[in-house]
Amino acid sequence: GGAGSARAHESAVKHVTGRAAYIDDIPSPAGTLHLALGLSPVAHGRLTRLDLEKVKAAPGVVDVITLADVPGHTDIGPVFPGDPIFADDEISYVGQCLFAVAAESHKAARLAVREAVVEIDEQPASLDPVAAAEREDFVRPTHVHERGDWRQALSEAPHVIEGEQFVGGQEHFYLEGQACLVQPTEDEGVMVYTSNQHPSETQKLVAEVLGIPFHAVTMEMRRMGGGFGGKETQASPWACIAALIARRTGRAAKIRLPRAEDSRATGKRHPFHNRYRLGFDDRGVLAGGEITVIGDCGYSPDLSDAIVDRAMFHADNAYSLGDARVTGQRAKTHKASNTAFRGFGGPQGMMIIERAMDDIARHLGEDPLTVRKRNLYRAQDPDGKPRDVTHYGQRVEQLGLLHDLVDQLEASSDYWARRREIAAFNAKSPIVKKGLALTPVKFGISFTVQHLNQAGALLLVYTDGSVMINHGGTEMGQGLHTKVCQVVARELGLDLERVRISATRTDKVPNTSPTAASSGADLNGQAARDAASKLRERLFDFAAAHFDREAGGLDRESMRLEDGHLVAGIGEAQRRIPWGELVQEAYMGRVSLSEKGFYATPLIHYDRATGRGRPFYYYAHGAAVAEVEVDTLSGEYRVSRADILHDVGDSLNPAIDIGQIEGGFIQGMGWLTSEELVWNDAGRLVSDGPATYKIPAFGDLPETFNVELLQGHPNSQASIYRSKAVGEPPFMLAISVWSALRDALASLADYRISPALDTPATPERVLMAAEALRRDA
Ligand code: MTE
Ligand code: MOS
Repeated sequence: GGAGSARAHESAVKHVTGRAAYIDDIPSPAGTLHLALGLSPVAHGRLTRLDLEKVKAAPGVVDVITLADVPGHTDIGPVFPGDPIFADDEISYVGQCLFAVAAESHKAARLAVREAVVEIDEQPASLDPVAAAEREDFVRPTHVHERGDWRQALSEAPHVIEGEQFVGGQEHFYLEGQACLVQPTEDEGVMVYTSNQHPSETQKLVAEVLGIPFHAVTMEMRRMGGGFGGKETQASPWACIAALIARRTGRAAKIRLPRAEDSRATGKRHPFHNRYRLGFDDRGVLAGGEITVIGDCGYSPDLSDAIVDRAMFHADNAYSLGDARVTGQRAKTHKASNTAFRGFGGPQGMMIIERAMDDIARHLGEDPLTVRKRNLYRAQDPDGKPRDVTHYGQRVEQLGLLHDLVDQLEASSDYWARRREIAAFNAKSPIVKKGLALTPVKFGISFTVQHLNQAGALLLVYTDGSVMINHGGTEMGQGLHTKVCQVVARELGLDLERVRISATRTDKVPNTSPTAASSGADLNGQAARDAASKLRERLFDFAAAHFDREAGGLDRESMRLEDGHLVAGIGEAQRRIPWGELVQEAYMGRVSLSEKGFYATPLIHYDRATGRGRPFYYYAHGAAVAEVEVDTLSGEYRVSRADILHDVGDSLNPAIDIGQIEGGFIQGMGWLTSEELVWNDAGRLVSDGPATYKIPAFGDLPETFNVELLQGHPNSQASIYRSKAVGEPPFMLAISVWSALRDALASLADYRISPALDTPATPERVLMAAEALRRDA
């Protein structure tokens, strides 16, 4: 049951039987108040009147608060200031919080909100990130990566082409919406139950908003019904608001955003507008050029600096750009502040180079896979020029792995035989067109903000031999707790059943990083291992001195913990002491049975002033082949087959890893195909629920879906048991679906034109692209 084995998720049975408890399932304490929010109906303007007298007088209402009622900090920006907890007089987006109502019931609170008199002097909303970038209306300054003489590379290249690509955003659509329950405690503090990827940050913000020390605020987080990045920073406002009410009234306060409000009030994946101008030789090998990515950040910085950075770090994906400049701009618009979402900008950055790979192939009349393979990172050019260093100066290791992986998938998916079949099919089929594409992924693992790459753990062993491990990571369905329990079970030689995690709590492990950047198991697994190995050594010291003293004690050198026993010596002289007995004796011998662990990722550094460094401890890789069938008269299509080969090093848990790969791919497919965010001209989000926003459903699964883990390539870095992070990288494998759609469309013009296809590539967009191609062909 230890690390490396395919164990089911610790809550699998609870998940599928509906018994897993989420925030709304926690029994409310007597007298709990229910909260509702007054949100701005206007995207941009000045609040000229906010009259809440009728709200206060409404039935069941106990308290109503606005910005003026906040005793401590009023700005809850997570990294940079810019996020007022309630609007002051400046209104920046539809859904911005103006006030909160606490009432005896959820319904009473919601009805009372409607009694508010709100007057806003409306001003034109800026909704176009490209226009904002032209005006230099940014939430953060522009950042640049530059390597080599890219201007010369462009001027000397035999071929130069350019293109632009709009990449849509994405609503997180976690099944459990933003939710929080706060209880006032005896002293001046609060106990906060929250659906939250970053409890320590919310603890800090709650304390600052209330004006109390951090130790007066305790966070507890058992599990989220999905986070996907949407609860990394944007779970905090609701906790702060509920905490304010709890402290003011002395009663517990609960908040649970209805889906439509959740959609409007919280930020999404950043839409991007990307451009490239690249030079290449007759074989399609890049000489260099320039790439610009513009992220639509919404009204405030939130995490946009790091998100646009990560888009820039992934503008090469798996390809050596040559001499290149990559520029990242952070456009300000009157929308909710866009935020983390699986891949954290990486997917949006990769889209531009994948777009370019297809375009180059069409330009030269080559198969896109051929051009992609020629551009993969490799040791050097034939003329000896190194091709293994990124545009930000990091050397790409495990080059053999990347090439092996693509070669293996090319063979196992039968790429070339299917390519020929599809060409023959398309030649005879005027309306229905098939498309095929293989796209790779190379994704950097580590927080690019260095200090976040740390983790802590607390290991408690009780006298019956049962083990409790707490760590800084949070469980959102990704199986982190299962993996960390497996690490402890492996270190202590115990069955997985012996090891349990209660919940993530800031009073057990302090000052934690968000569970994000796919690094949950890497960081917290190492911290748990550190604690377990320290405790194990202490038990060995004790056992060596304590057992069989008359016979000269146990042999310390040969000791190990396995199958629920301490084992010492070999052969005839072997001594096996059951774990329970060992623990009991250690307790009687007054040896501590608890331990803390800590981990900080080695090697990483990044100098933002020069745009150079080694921001990533290592890269995780994968590749996917997608096949699509498009009805070019209606634009409708289906994904008939997907083959995935993915690199997780030596897997910590193959069952969970395959689940992450399947889920990531499908979520990525939704992002690039059916999930369309629509704002009207006034900046109001129209797609605010399942009726208007289409996430993939069961029927959208590829008919044939083969997912394999790459074998025989342990992590070359000393990660936890040589495994690799898996949470985000598979998301980007879905780029193969978009590329396959372009491939199917290109057949309409004999593969001579590279069709423009912005995302999401809804049937409507596919149809428009098909019609444009028929006109031009
Ligand atoms: N898987 C599930 N089931 N639910 C989620 O919310 N979030 C993803 C990924 N997989 C998510 C998920 C995101 S955005 C990240 S960063 C990682 O899980 C975080 O967990 P990890 O670091 O433990 O992989
Ligand atoms: Mo994930 S976007 O890093 O929470």
